[in-house]
Amino acid sequence: MKLITILLLCSRLLPSLAQEEGAQELNCNDETVFQAVDTALKKYNAELESGNQFVLYRVTKGTKKDGAETLYSFKYQIKEGNCSVQSGLTWQDCDFKDAEEAATGECTTTLGKKENKFSVATQICNITPGKGPKKTEEDLCVGCFQPIPMDSSDLKPVLKHAVEHFNNNTKHTHLFALREVKSAHSQVVAGMNYKIIYSIVQTNCSKEDFPSLREDCVPLPYGDHGECTGHTHVDIHNTIAGFSQSCDLYPGDDLFELLPKNCRGCPREIPVDSPELKEALGHSIAQLNAQHNHIFYFKIDTVKKATSQVVAGVIYVIEFIARETNCSKQSKTELTADCETKHLGQSLNCNANVYMRPWENKVVPTVRCQALDMMISRPPGFSPFRLVRVQETKEGTTRLLNSCEYKGRLSKARAGPAPDHQAEASTVTS
Ligand SMILES: *[C@@H]1O[C@H](CO)[C@@H](O)[C@H](O)[C@H]1NC(C)=O
Ligand SMILES: *[C@@H]1O[C@H](CO)[C@@H](O)[C@H](O)[C@H]1NC(C)=O
Ligand SMILES: *[C@@H]1O[C@H](CO)[C@@H](O)[C@H](O)[C@H]1NC(C)=O
Ligand SMILES: *[C@@H]1O[C@H](CO)[C@@H](O)[C@H](O)[C@H]1NC(C)=O
Repeated sequence: MKLITILLLCSRLLPSLAQEEGAQELNCNDETVFQAVDTALKKYNAELESGNQFVLYRVTKGTKKDGAETLYSFKYQIKEGNCSVQSGLTWQDCDFKDAEEAATGECTTTLGKKENKFSVATQICNITPGKGPKKTEEDLCVGCFQPIPMDSSDLKPVLKHAVEHFNNNTKHTHLFALREVKSAHSQVVAGMNYKIIYSIVQTNCSKEDFPSLREDCVPLPYGDHGECTGHTHVDIHNTIAGFSQSCDLYPGDDLFELLPKNCRGCPREIPVDSPELKEALGHSIAQLNAQHNHIFYFKIDTVKKATSQVVAGVIYVIEFIARETNCSKQSKTELTADCETKHLGQSLNCNANVYMRPWENKVVPTVRCQALDMMISRPPGFSPFRLVRVQETKEGTTRLLNSCEYKGRLSKARAGPAPDHQAEASTVTS
């Protein structure tokens, strides 16, 4: 029980080992640990040409350093999974391969964070092959992925499918179009596999008005954009038989920055309490509540900034803070005046863009929000990790390190005598 007590007290990763100046350690319950490592591992898997994907085993070190851009650095251990790189599954869907044959690895990565998205700056993974049957160079290269020209006509139907799939399966208000193909590889199997990296961009066609993308939907210069990796299997009959893609969406540039001040038809700032804003705010919060997957309605708390611009209609650009109320979506069909903000509820910082054409009764609201970091204690069981103490023997000295072990896939191939019971606070009494 003593060990467990220590374990519960030390909730931080790797105490002060060669700590970088100003870097702050992250603990397993910090949700950025999983988000960042997930981003890094997905990138590593996406770049593998053949073989199996790797699955997260545990994170042994995580630090964060604030600056102009927040920098994160992690050390994490991975194990070979049982699903292939081409399977289109994400690593969370794979199980560990049998212990003996599985390759293992340790990755060191640094990431930046912008607009709430992580991007991998550097990553090095050292992989130790498993004891399985050795693969020869030839085995590995039969049916390797080969680069193909990015303007290849074979890619057209695949990319069309990819963009359609994206548009069918995202909640975004607008349709997206292909912007650019960044790389393309194909592999001859029974049929053909394609691996394509491409970017997409928001167009001026809203989903409400257009069931699918048309020729006259043009990319918005300030639109949201995404970076996608897609895997496609085209069978011998030339039909798309398997498809998966993952896209990272980035919010577009802010209208405020793009348009010059003091010009006719340019956005003009309006007082945040202007009655003129009332309708646009109503549309904004309705849109937010419709697209935000949350049990409770949000209401507008504070309007921080607003502009209007006369085009063929009026565009309102509004920045506001929305807060969670005590009205659940289950109990009410809409937000009403008697819904009060919750004392410890979630807050969102939102940017809305509301296009109104009153004579046609047309309103196109676009809202995007980011959670304001509030230190609300999270419900137990939130973290995908559990804290474990790991013995590390290096140059004859043994130390105990804290590490965050991924709880998702632990059915096979545990290294070492990890405890079988989850050593979590809720299950331990001493
Ligand atoms: C991986 O292993 C799990 C559990 O043994 C199994 O359910 C799953 O189908 C396997 N996946 C693949 C792609 O073989
Ligand atoms: C997208 O949805 C349309 C309409 O429901 C459908 O015809 C089309 O096949 C879908 N495309 C993809 C790639 O899912
Ligand atoms: C999108 O922009 C194009 C070019 O300006 C225009 O022809 C088209 O009508 C616009 N579509 C919508 C839905 O606004
Ligand atoms: C929300 O709180 C207010 C003030 O306490 C109360 O009047 C109202 O009935 C509550 N609404 C719900 C749905 O609980």
